[in-house]
Amino acid sequence: MSITRVGIIGSGIMGSGIAEVAASNGYDVVLRSRSQESADAMKAGVQKSLARQVEKEKRTQSEADEILARVSTTTDLKALGDCDLIIESVVEDLDVKMALFKELDTIVKDSAILATNTSTLPVVEMAMATSNPQNVCGIHFFNPAPAMALVEVVRPITSSDETIAAAIAFAESCGKDPVEVKDQAGFIVNALLFPYLNNAIRLLESGVATREGIDTAMKGGCGFPMGPFALLDLVGLDTSLAILDALYAEFRDPNYAAVPLLRRMVASGQLGRKSKKGFYDYSK
Ligand SMILES: NC(=O)c1ccc[n+]([C@@H]2O[C@H](COP(=O)([O-])OP(=O)(O)OC[C@H]3O[C@@H](n4cnc5c(N)ncnc54)[C@H](O)[C@@H]3O)[C@@H](O)[C@H]2O)c1
Repeated sequence: MSITRVGIIGSGIMGSGIAEVAASNGYDVVLRSRSQESADAMKAGVQKSLARQVEKEKRTQSEADEILARVSTTTDLKALGDCDLIIESVVEDLDVKMALFKELDTIVKDSAILATNTSTLPVVEMAMATSNPQNVCGIHFFNPAPAMALVEVVRPITSSDETIAAAIAFAESCGKDPVEVKDQAGFIVNALLFPYLNNAIRLLESGVATREGIDTAMKGGCGFPMGPFALLDLVGLDTSLAILDALYAEFRDPNYAAVPLLRRMVASGQLGRKSKKGFYDYSK
């Protein structure tokens, strides 16, 4: 299965990072967002990141120009019709993703691989929204996508061996370390990470220590590069809540039951870095 053209859907934190990864590794990339403004903002994000790499002498200017020239933007889903691989990275909402897969099914060629960057939702349900479920899998990047080595390749029970092999080969061609995992909520990383993040909020809520104290403790005591509150703000509190809700729905384990403070923060629009306020303030 040969992949040369990659479509990426969703202009959030992850979409532009995945676009940068694919374009930097020689793929033609079509970025699709619902508004031209956010599609352009995504491409500008890739450009900014490449400019930083030129500044740090990790790339030459002509390499950066070549990479950016491989990225085009669109608001029209039909423009993804000739893509060999499409990775959706829209909001973590199963109904939205299933509707998207259903629409993509009417647009893409029969051989195209459709992948989701979902953090935890059942990939099989997205696969069954299409007429070629054997071509659907998860390709789960980590945040920030250009920097993080891991890609979880998620195998729903409907996926063909060829699809999984192509997803693994794609991730490797992007310089990533793919790990194959069953289509079970949270896969590997989030199944282990989210009880920890949720319990950090519980500690804060019960007044055991301040958020700065808990972050300092986990960095200094466990050697983590960032504490749980800085990480929650980076992931996005709405995405974190959606992940916990999906984990709880699958396992009914109290460790996955979102702590009320998280739900209240999301309800009040405090979503982390993306809204300039979460556990920390990013407005200045
Ligand atoms: N944030 C992370 O750290 C992280 C890491 C790995 C995977 N993911 C996954 O990546 C996906 C996107 O997450 P993100 O953090 O980039 O989210 P985000 O909130 O930054 O962006 C969400 C995107 O979805 C779009 N969107 C919202 N509603 C939509 C709809 N009805 N139809 C089409 N598009 C819609 C928004 O316009 C936006 O572009 C999710 O599935 C998430 O679980 C997130």
